[in-house]
Amino acid sequence: MPASDITWHEGAVSRAGRAAVTGGPGATLWLTGLSGSGKSTVATAVEERLVAGGRAAYRLDGDNLRTGINADLGFSRDERLENCRRVAEVARLFADAGLVAVVAIISPYAESRDLARRIHAEAGLPFVEVFMATPAAECAVRDPKGLYAKSAAGSLTGFTGIDDPYEVPEAPDLAIEPTTPVGDAVDLVLAALARATD
Ligand code: ADX
Repeated sequence: MPASDITWHEGAVSRAGRAAVTGGPGATLWLTGLSGSGKSTVATAVEERLVAGGRAAYRLDGDNLRTGINADLGFSRDERLENCRRVAEVARLFADAGLVAVVAIISPYAESRDLARRIHAEAGLPFVEVFMATPAAECAVRDPKGLYAKSAAGSLTGFTGIDDPYEVPEAPDLAIEPTTPVGDAVDLVLAALARATD
């Protein structure tokens, strides 16, 4: 079906109208980093703090999305790129709806994170890239899902940061160090969100 056969249908509700019922303007917080770097922990605490403060927010966690919308995708380079593209599009919709989309996804390739930023910029929506800067050695000690042990034992191959690439963000809006307590990380993320939505 040619794109020329598609017509955008404008709604009757403005973004400001939606923000009035969701407690503030929509935005996307994109947490990138290795498995075990703390993405899900910080995303969960950020979501909790936002909702407690009357702001509609929703976590888009890579593992969770892989049970549904991304259940057909594996971990090849192309599948990870498609996984991230879909999450970027879903986050854009959530942000447009007036929610704070709190994305927690490895997103190992810079081109995926750049695409997510571009999709939001084109839609005029705030986007904050947060790099969870926990090195692989520390993630392997934490190993909350036992995947580093599996990788070391040879029963999991193509594991990000071990035998699959992770391209470290060159200019994230925020980097969270592994020594930062969760509460402080939430403060930093919310301050970055406030700057982006000012
Ligand atoms: S991404 O690379 O496509 O951005 P995503 O965040 O959706 O990854 O999913 C990563 C999660 O899948 C990890 O937290 C881990 O639980 C699980 N996983 C299973 N196999 C792998 C693998 N080979 N590499 C990384 N994560 C994996």
